Amino acid sequence: MKILVCTLLFSLISILFQTGTAMAEEIQSLRGSVGVDEESEMIPNRRTMAVDGGIDVNYEDQPPLIPHSIDKTRITLDENSCLGCHSKENQKITNAVRPPKSHYRTREGKKLRQITTGRYFCTQCHVPQAYTKPLVNNDFKN
Ligand code: HEC
Ligand code: HEC
Repeated sequence: MKILVCTLLFSLISILFQTGTAMAEEIQSLRGSVGVDEESEMIPNRRTMAVDGGIDVNYEDQPPLIPHSIDKTRITLDENSCLGCHSKENQKITNAVRPPKSHYRTREGKKLRQITTGRYFCTQCHVPQAYTKPLVNNDFKN
Protein backbone atom coordinates (compact mmCIF):
# COMPACT_ATOMS: atom_id res chain seq x y z
CA MET A 1 0.00 0.00 0.00
CA LYS A 2 2.78 2.39 1.05
CA ILE A 3 4.57 1.72 -2.23
CA LEU A 4 1.41 2.45 -4.22
CA VAL A 5 0.85 5.79 -2.46
CA CYS A 6 4.50 6.70 -3.00
CA THR A 7 4.34 5.86 -6.72
CA LEU A 8 1.13 7.87 -7.11
CA LEU A 9 2.63 10.85 -5.30
CA PHE A 10 5.77 10.62 -7.38
CA SER A 11 3.79 10.56 -10.67
CA LEU A 12 1.70 13.51 -9.53
CA ILE A 13 4.80 15.54 -8.64
CA SER A 14 6.50 14.73 -11.94
CA ILE A 15 3.36 15.73 -13.91
CA LEU A 16 3.21 19.02 -12.02
CA PHE A 17 6.93 19.56 -12.58
CA GLN A 18 6.64 18.88 -16.32
CA THR A 19 3.73 21.33 -16.72
CA GLY A 20 5.81 23.91 -14.87
CA THR A 21 8.74 23.44 -17.24
CA ALA A 22 6.47 23.58 -20.30
CA MET A 23 5.06 26.90 -19.06
CA ALA A 24 8.54 28.30 -18.45
CA GLU A 25 9.59 27.36 -21.97
CA GLU A 26 7.04 29.74 -23.47
CA ILE A 27 9.19 32.67 -22.29
CA GLN A 28 12.20 33.06 -24.57
CA SER A 29 15.30 34.91 -23.50
CA LEU A 30 17.35 37.05 -25.88
CA ARG A 31 19.50 33.94 -26.47
CA GLY A 32 16.45 32.22 -28.00
CA SER A 33 16.49 28.46 -27.55
CA VAL A 34 20.30 28.19 -27.71
CA GLY A 35 21.67 26.27 -24.72
CA VAL A 36 23.95 28.06 -22.25
CA ASP A 37 26.84 25.80 -23.26
CA GLU A 38 26.42 26.64 -26.97
CA GLU A 39 27.58 29.74 -28.78
CA SER A 40 24.63 32.00 -29.60
CA GLU A 41 24.26 34.48 -32.44
CA MET A 42 25.08 38.05 -31.51
CA ILE A 43 21.86 39.90 -30.82
CA PRO A 44 21.22 42.75 -33.27
CA ASN A 45 22.11 46.18 -31.98
CA ARG A 46 18.85 47.93 -31.16
CA ARG A 47 18.26 51.63 -31.59
CA THR A 48 18.79 53.43 -28.28
CA MET A 49 15.95 55.53 -26.95
CA ALA A 50 17.06 59.16 -26.96
CA VAL A 51 14.81 61.28 -24.76
CA ASP A 52 15.32 65.03 -24.46
CA GLY A 53 15.27 66.15 -20.84
CA GLY A 54 15.83 62.60 -19.48
CA ILE A 55 13.56 59.66 -18.68
CA ASP A 56 11.30 59.91 -15.62
CA VAL A 57 12.31 57.66 -12.72
CA ASN A 58 9.80 55.08 -11.46
CA TYR A 59 10.72 55.15 -7.78
CA GLU A 60 12.66 57.20 -5.26
CA ASP A 61 16.45 56.74 -5.34
CA GLN A 62 16.36 54.95 -8.70
CA PRO A 63 19.53 55.57 -10.69
CA PRO A 64 18.15 57.61 -13.60
CA LEU A 65 18.15 55.83 -16.97
CA ILE A 66 20.61 57.03 -19.60
CA PRO A 67 18.56 59.01 -22.15
CA HIS A 68 21.19 58.78 -24.92
CA SER A 69 23.27 56.22 -26.80
CA ILE A 70 26.44 54.93 -25.08
CA ASP A 71 27.70 52.83 -28.01
CA LYS A 72 30.92 54.85 -28.24
CA THR A 73 31.64 55.26 -24.54
CA ARG A 74 34.28 53.19 -22.79
CA ILE A 75 34.82 52.60 -19.10
CA THR A 76 38.20 51.03 -18.37
CA LEU A 77 40.84 51.40 -15.64
CA ASP A 78 42.46 54.27 -17.57
CA GLU A 79 39.52 56.05 -19.11
CA ASN A 80 35.88 56.77 -18.40
CA SER A 81 34.32 58.56 -21.33
CA CYS A 82 31.09 59.21 -19.40
CA LEU A 83 33.14 61.64 -17.34
CA GLY A 84 34.37 63.24 -20.56
CA CYS A 85 30.94 64.91 -20.55
CA HIS A 86 29.59 64.41 -17.02
CA SER A 87 32.50 65.36 -14.74
CA LYS A 88 32.17 68.60 -12.75
CA GLU A 89 34.71 70.34 -15.02
CA ASN A 90 33.39 69.10 -18.36
CA GLN A 91 29.68 69.35 -17.69
CA LYS A 92 29.98 73.14 -17.75
CA ILE A 93 30.91 72.86 -21.43
CA THR A 94 28.89 69.82 -22.48
CA ASN A 95 25.73 70.66 -20.53
CA ALA A 96 25.44 67.03 -19.40
CA VAL A 97 23.68 66.54 -16.05
CA ARG A 98 26.14 66.82 -13.17
CA PRO A 99 26.40 63.67 -11.04
CA PRO A 100 24.92 64.30 -7.57
CA LYS A 101 27.01 64.93 -4.41
CA SER A 102 26.56 61.27 -3.39
CA HIS A 103 28.91 60.34 -6.26
CA TYR A 104 31.70 62.43 -4.73
CA ARG A 105 31.65 60.82 -1.30
CA THR A 106 33.28 57.67 0.02
CA ARG A 107 31.22 54.99 1.68
CA GLU A 108 32.17 56.60 5.03
CA GLY A 109 30.83 59.96 3.84
CA LYS A 110 34.19 61.68 3.20
CA LYS A 111 33.99 64.35 0.47
CA LEU A 112 36.22 63.82 -2.56
CA ARG A 113 37.19 66.01 -5.51
CA GLN A 114 36.75 63.14 -7.93
CA ILE A 115 34.04 60.55 -8.46
CA THR A 116 34.39 57.91 -5.74
CA THR A 117 35.66 54.51 -6.89
CA GLY A 118 32.36 52.94 -5.82
CA ARG A 119 30.61 54.96 -8.53
CA TYR A 120 33.28 54.70 -11.21
CA PHE A 121 31.60 51.99 -13.28
CA CYS A 122 28.54 54.07 -14.15
CA THR A 123 26.76 51.34 -16.11
CA GLN A 124 26.59 49.13 -13.01
CA CYS A 125 23.63 51.33 -12.06
CA HIS A 126 22.74 53.54 -15.06
CA VAL A 127 21.51 51.86 -18.22
CA PRO A 128 20.22 53.10 -21.56
CA GLN A 129 16.91 51.91 -23.02
CA ALA A 130 16.21 50.46 -26.46
CA TYR A 131 13.08 50.27 -28.56
CA THR A 132 12.13 46.64 -27.86
CA LYS A 133 9.06 44.64 -26.94
CA PRO A 134 9.22 43.58 -23.27
CA LEU A 135 9.97 39.85 -22.87
CA VAL A 136 7.36 39.54 -20.14
CA ASN A 137 4.50 41.77 -19.04
CA ASN A 138 5.23 43.98 -16.10
CA ASP A 139 2.56 45.83 -14.18
CA PHE A 140 4.87 47.41 -11.57
CA LYS A 141 3.34 50.62 -10.21
CA ASN A 142 5.28 53.33 -8.43
C1 HEC B 1 28.83 63.40 -25.41
C2 HEC B 1 28.53 63.72 -24.02
C3 HEC B 1 28.01 62.62 -23.12
C4 HEC B 1 28.58 61.40 -22.85
C5 HEC B 1 29.88 60.80 -23.39
C6 HEC B 1 27.71 60.77 -21.87
N1 HEC B 1 26.64 61.58 -21.57
FE1 HEC B 1 25.12 61.18 -20.29
N2 HEC B 1 24.18 62.91 -20.80
C7 HEC B 1 24.70 63.88 -21.66
C8 HEC B 1 23.74 64.97 -21.79
C9 HEC B 1 23.93 66.23 -22.64
C10 HEC B 1 22.63 64.62 -20.97
C11 HEC B 1 21.35 65.42 -20.78
C12 HEC B 1 20.35 64.95 -21.78
C13 HEC B 1 19.01 65.60 -21.62
O1 HEC B 1 18.59 65.77 -20.47
O2 HEC B 1 18.37 65.89 -22.64
C14 HEC B 1 22.94 63.33 -20.39
C15 HEC B 1 22.11 62.65 -19.52
C16 HEC B 1 22.49 61.52 -18.78
C17 HEC B 1 21.73 60.93 -17.70
C18 HEC B 1 20.35 61.38 -17.22
C19 HEC B 1 20.40 62.15 -15.94
C20 HEC B 1 18.99 62.51 -15.46
O3 HEC B 1 18.92 63.10 -14.37
O4 HEC B 1 18.00 62.20 -16.12
C21 HEC B 1 22.44 59.88 -17.22
C22 HEC B 1 22.07 58.95 -16.07
C23 HEC B 1 23.65 59.80 -18.01
N3 HEC B 1 23.65 60.81 -18.95
C24 HEC B 1 24.64 58.87 -17.81
C25 HEC B 1 25.72 58.69 -18.67
C26 HEC B 1 26.63 57.56 -18.58
C27 HEC B 1 26.56 56.47 -17.53
C28 HEC B 1 27.54 57.71 -19.58
C29 HEC B 1 28.66 56.77 -19.98
C30 HEC B 1 28.27 55.37 -20.23
C31 HEC B 1 27.21 58.95 -20.28
N4 HEC B 1 26.09 59.50 -19.70
C32 HEC B 1 27.95 59.51 -21.33
C33 HEC B 1 25.92 63.82 -22.30
C34 HEC B 1 26.78 62.73 -22.31
C1 HEC C 1 26.16 52.40 -7.25
C2 HEC C 1 25.23 52.91 -8.24
C3 HEC C 1 25.64 54.09 -9.09
C4 HEC C 1 26.81 54.25 -9.84
C5 HEC C 1 27.95 53.26 -9.99
C6 HEC C 1 26.69 55.53 -10.49
N1 HEC C 1 25.50 56.13 -10.16
FE1 HEC C 1 24.82 57.90 -10.85
N2 HEC C 1 23.16 57.74 -9.64
C7 HEC C 1 22.86 56.67 -8.85
C8 HEC C 1 21.65 56.95 -8.09
C9 HEC C 1 20.98 56.01 -7.08
C10 HEC C 1 21.22 58.24 -8.47
C11 HEC C 1 20.02 59.03 -7.96
C12 HEC C 1 20.11 59.28 -6.48
C13 HEC C 1 21.24 60.14 -6.05
O1 HEC C 1 21.10 61.37 -6.17
O2 HEC C 1 22.27 59.62 -5.58
C14 HEC C 1 22.19 58.71 -9.47
C15 HEC C 1 22.11 59.91 -10.12
C16 HEC C 1 22.94 60.29 -11.19
C17 HEC C 1 22.72 61.44 -12.05
C18 HEC C 1 21.52 62.38 -12.00
C19 HEC C 1 21.78 63.66 -11.29
C20 HEC C 1 20.56 64.57 -11.33
O3 HEC C 1 20.68 65.65 -10.74
O4 HEC C 1 19.54 64.23 -11.90
C21 HEC C 1 23.76 61.48 -12.95
C22 HEC C 1 23.98 62.51 -14.04
C23 HEC C 1 24.63 60.36 -12.64
N3 HEC C 1 24.10 59.67 -11.58
C24 HEC C 1 25.77 60.07 -13.33
C25 HEC C 1 26.63 59.03 -13.03
C26 HEC C 1 27.91 58.79 -13.67
C27 HEC C 1 28.49 59.66 -14.80
C28 HEC C 1 28.46 57.69 -13.11
C29 HEC C 1 29.81 57.08 -13.37
C30 HEC C 1 30.96 57.94 -13.22
C31 HEC C 1 27.49 57.20 -12.10
N4 HEC C 1 26.42 58.05 -12.08
C32 HEC C 1 27.66 56.06 -11.32
C33 HEC C 1 23.59 55.50 -8.74
C34 HEC C 1 24.83 55.29 -9.31
